[in-house]
Formats: sequence, C-alpha cells, structure tokens
Amino acid sequence: MPKSQLIPEHQTLLNLVRRSVEMHLNAQQAGHGLDHTLRVLHWSRVIHDTAGGDLLVVELAALLHDVGDAKFHQGQELGGKLSTEILTELGVVAEVIERVVNVVDNISFRKGVPATELSLEGQIVQDADRLDALGAIGIVRTIEFGCFKGQAFHTPEDPRPIEQHASGIGHFFQKLFHLRSLLNTETARQLAKQRERIMYSFVEQFLAESACSLSLDQNFKTLN
Ligand code: ADP
Ligand code: NI
Repeated sequence: MPKSQLIPEHQTLLNLVRRSVEMHLNAQQAGHGLDHTLRVLHWSRVIHDTAGGDLLVVELAALLHDVGDAKFHQGQELGGKLSTEILTELGVVAEVIERVVNVVDNISFRKGVPATELSLEGQIVQDADRLDALGAIGIVRTIEFGCFKGQAFHTPEDPRPIEQHASGIGHFFQKLFHLRSLLNTETARQLAKQRERIMYSFVEQFLAESACSLSLDQNFKTLN
C-alpha cells in the first residue's frame, strides 16, 4: 500500500472528482472504465512514495487522465477541457488546475511526448497508466480493446511479420513489449518486470496453441 496520506479536505475533493469522473467514464468502454482509473490512481500513489512530487496534482491527474479520451469523443481529445471544467466547478485554485491539465494533456502514449517535457507528476501518472497496459490486466485490456474495435485478436494468415499485424497479438509487439524501456521511474521499471514476463509467456503459449490452426488451414487449401 502507498504510504502517502492526503489531508482530509484533499480527500473530500478527491471523492468529488472521482464521482464526476465516474459519470464521464460510464459513457466510455474498452479498458477505460473507472476500474482502470482507480488502478492508475493506486500505482501513481505507490510511485509517488519514492519519486516525490505534489501528491494532490498526482492524484487529481490520475483520476482525470482518461476523462476526455479522443477514442470516445469523435477523435477529439477533451481531457484538458473537461478537467478544467470539473476542477473549476469544485473551486480548485487555478495554479493546481493548470498543473493537472498539463499532465492530462500530455501523458498519452498516442502523443508520444518525451518524458523530459513532462512534469514529475506527469511522469508518475504516465508510468502508472503504462503499468496498467502491462501484465494480466494489460492482456485483458488488449482483448477488450480489440473487441471494441471489432479487430481480430490474431491474424495468422497475414504474411507480414507479426509486429505489422493489425491485431491484438500485433499490438503486443508494436507497443506493449516496448513500454518497459519507456518508463520514467525506477519503481515502475521494477513493477513492470513481472508484468512483462507474464505477457511473454502468454503470447508464447498463445502462438504455440494457435499454430495448429494455420497449418491445418494450409492442409485444407492444398486439398482443394
Ligand atoms: P491509455 O489511454 O490508457 O494510455 P490507450 O487508450 O492507448 O491507453 O489504450 C487502452 C488499452 O487498449 C491499453 O491496454 C492498450 O494497450 C490497448 N490498446 C490500444 N491500442 C490497441 C490496439 N490497436 N489493439 C489492441 N489493444 C490496444
Ligand atoms: Ni489510461
């Protein structure tokens, strides 16, 4: 458990933000529900314990980081706008809002903002977000995302190298197996090791088990 403790009025604020985020996320699916957000909050606190930074900014940014995900808003990133609205409504001071919005606007993998341009709080929440793309949870989220997109999990008939496949399996090679080397903090790098191991063994086992379908398919084709 993280050692950091918030003072009571911060805890009240967090509860209110959590409630507001929950309403927004209810409209979003595919690995971006409140469960993802709460895990990111948890691991952000764990990383903050050793990395430091402003705990309130870390906590608020973790809660708000996926609130305006473009995938669920016709391709438009609304995270900064929605975060500003939510925090302003709750009377949070402008300086804190600015620091939170800076994190929310900049941590996404899609934007590829280098860690050097992120605040310490941004680096912490980005690591927690990336940890949640790894391990057993990461495997499930990849499958969920593929279902949401209507994308096959594996496309063995694709003749291209597996890292070029537009599939869940392809995603492991395109993104997930590279994430550990992109982490900002030592705590996250340590936590990522076990998560990476389970993904390797899952993918290895999955490919071994599914190999027979392709060779069988090729057998059928030679019969026709
Ligand atoms: P976040 O916004 O939380 O950083 P993303 O929105 O990029 O993460 O992705 C959400 C989840 O879906 C992650 O677990 C990610 O690995 C997975 N994902 C993203 N793109 C794909 C894809 N093309 N195929 C399968 N899974 C994906
Ligand atoms: Ni996220």
